[in-house]
Amino acid sequence: MDGKNGSFVTEFILVGFSGPWELQIFFFVTFSLIYAATVVGNVLIMVTVIFSSTLHSPMYFLLGNLSFLDMCLSSSTTPKMITDLLAEQKTISVWGCMTQMFFMHFFGGAEMTLLIVMAFDRYVAICKPLHYRTIMNHRLLNGFVILAWTIGFIHTMSQMVLTVNLPFCGHSVIDSIFCDLPLVIKLACVETYTLELFVIADSGLLSLICFILLLFSYTVILVTVQKRSSGGLSKALSTLSAHVIVVTLFFGPCVFIYAWPFSSFASSKTLAVFYTVITPLLNPIIYTLRNQKMQGAMRKLRLQHVSSTENF
Ligand SMILES: *[C@@H]1O[C@H](CO)[C@@H](O)[C@H](O)[C@H]1NC(C)=O
Repeated sequence: MDGKNGSFVTEFILVGFSGPWELQIFFFVTFSLIYAATVVGNVLIMVTVIFSSTLHSPMYFLLGNLSFLDMCLSSSTTPKMITDLLAEQKTISVWGCMTQMFFMHFFGGAEMTLLIVMAFDRYVAICKPLHYRTIMNHRLLNGFVILAWTIGFIHTMSQMVLTVNLPFCGHSVIDSIFCDLPLVIKLACVETYTLELFVIADSGLLSLICFILLLFSYTVILVTVQKRSSGGLSKALSTLSAHVIVVTLFFGPCVFIYAWPFSSFASSKTLAVFYTVITPLLNPIIYTLRNQKMQGAMRKLRLQHVSSTENF
């Protein structure tokens, strides 16, 4: 198998962050700390939700699953990015690159679906409080989680099936911190115009539509609450604002990266950092620091743990 312009590429070069080594060390330390905090924070939320008797409501069930997805999403790109900061040769094999893109879109697609499910959960809780427990029963919740993973899988497979067999010959430099579809597709040595359009539709348009849908549904919830009583509004506002912040931080960069991916966009590296490194950490921060019930449950679990170890 010979490529048209010489041999096939088996490795890509990730440009990563350029700059003097002091800056690379600074990024290394910063991102390592952020990643460690992401893993610890999200595991803490999962443990609290699973073991705490006060948090057995649908919202926390979904939140626990969101934390799991956040951790997975961050783990699909961040560790490689961190080790690359210290590496002389920032290379990634073509298969490594394909694997990274597969998992990123798998977890990303699942998280996108879960955020919509969480908006639905808030809608039922706030607008149909009397039927909340019957509507959001365990079967439906499990179904939602399975649906999220399924949609993530379909979303990533639909793009990867078309990407995995692309021939790469000649160019192998990816000007980013990890492999991502728009940049990798551009390196293929065949005409990829239709595939590029497909990715814009599948990742970009999908994120944009979901984002608009989510903001619209939060608006509907607020309007409904406001019509009913003025006291409920401030309570709903405080719950929903956490959701809106998370949703905006997740979808904002996605929309920018995928809906306008093929113009060379100077700050796309920064945006990429945002939704794979920063957002997965912000979710636990936003949900726990602003949530008294979560904090109370964590404190209680810690006390239980302390007293149970003292008994031994
Ligand atoms: C996430 O969903 C699964 C499957 O529905 C469930 O068994 C699990 O308890 C959930 N995780 C958390 C942390 O709530």
